[in-house]
Amino acid sequence: MKIIRSIKQMQKVSRKIRQKGKSIGFVPTMGALHQGHLSLIRRARKDNNIVVVSIFVNPTQFGPKEDFEKYPRVFKQDAALCKKEGVDLIFSPSTEAMYTQDHKTHVYVEHLSGRLCGKFRPRHFRGVATVVTKLFNIVQPNTAYFGQKDTQQAAIINKMVQDLNMPLKIKVLPTVREESGLALSSRNKYLSAQQKNDAAVLYQALNLAGRLIKQGNCNYQSIIQKMRAAISKKKDIGVQYISIVNLEDLLPVKRVKGKVLIALAAHIGKTRLIDNIIING
Ligand code: PAJ
Repeated sequence: MKIIRSIKQMQKVSRKIRQKGKSIGFVPTMGALHQGHLSLIRRARKDNNIVVVSIFVNPTQFGPKEDFEKYPRVFKQDAALCKKEGVDLIFSPSTEAMYTQDHKTHVYVEHLSGRLCGKFRPRHFRGVATVVTKLFNIVQPNTAYFGQKDTQQAAIINKMVQDLNMPLKIKVLPTVREESGLALSSRNKYLSAQQKNDAAVLYQALNLAGRLIKQGNCNYQSIIQKMRAAISKKKDIGVQYISIVNLEDLLPVKRVKGKVLIALAAHIGKTRLIDNIIING
C-alpha cells in the first residue's frame, strides 16, 4: 500500500492506472475510519482493480463554530485498517495543498444543498461538493462509493455528477450500525457510554415512523410528533429537525406515500448526529 500526499503525484499515478485499462474504485473519507467506511472499502475492493481511499479533513465543510479543530485525526490507525482491507493507495494531502491562499472556485448544487441539514449548516454542502469535485479530478476514479448514512450528501453528489457530466459512477451503500441500532459515525467518539446508549433512541424513532407508515398511517405531522415524543424520553437529546421527504428533491411530502426518506438531526450534549431510513410506504 502506497501513501500519496502530493496532488500532482496522485494524478500521475491515476493516469497511469487508467492508461493500463485498470479500474479505480474510490472511497473519499475524513478518516477516523470505522466499519461504515470499511463496508465502502470492501465493496470498492470487490468491484475494482485498484482501490484508492482519501483521508482529508475538509475545512470548507465545517461551520465557524463546528468541530474542525477537534475532529478525530488518527492517521496511523486508519492506514493500518486500509492496509488490512487491501487498499492500494491512500491519498492524504495537506490543507495548504488542497486550498491555496488564492482558492476562489466553489461548486454549489442549488436547491438540494439548502434543505434538511443545509438549513442549519448553510455552507456545508458547498464545501462537500467543492472538495469532492477536487478529489474526483485528482483521483480520476471509475466509481466512487458513498454511504446512505449521509443520504443528502449522496443525493447532492449524484446531482453534481449528472449536471457537470463527470465521467464516473456513484454507488451508495447501506448504513452500518452498532448492535443498538446507532449509526456508526466518526463523531460517536465524542459520546460517553451513557450518551451512546441514549443515542440509540434516534434509530428507534426512525423505525417507529417506518412501522406507522407500513401500517398505513400517512399523516406527516402525527408521525413526526410520535417520533419527537419517543426521543424526548432521553433528556440529554435535543432534536434539530425531523423531516419526511421525497427522495428526488428532498422536499417534505404532504402525505406519506411511495418511497420516502425519513431524516433527522439531533444534538447529544454538544455532539450533532444525523440518521435516516428510506421507507416504501
Ligand atoms: P466521512 O464522514 O468520513 O464519511 C465518508 C463516507 O463514509 C461517506 O460516504 C459516508 O456516508 C460514509 N459513512 C459514514 N458513516 C457510515 C455508516 N455508518 N455506514 C455506511 N457509510 C458510512 O462524508 C464525508 O466523510 C465527507 O463529507 C467527504 C465525502 C469525505 C467529503 O469531505
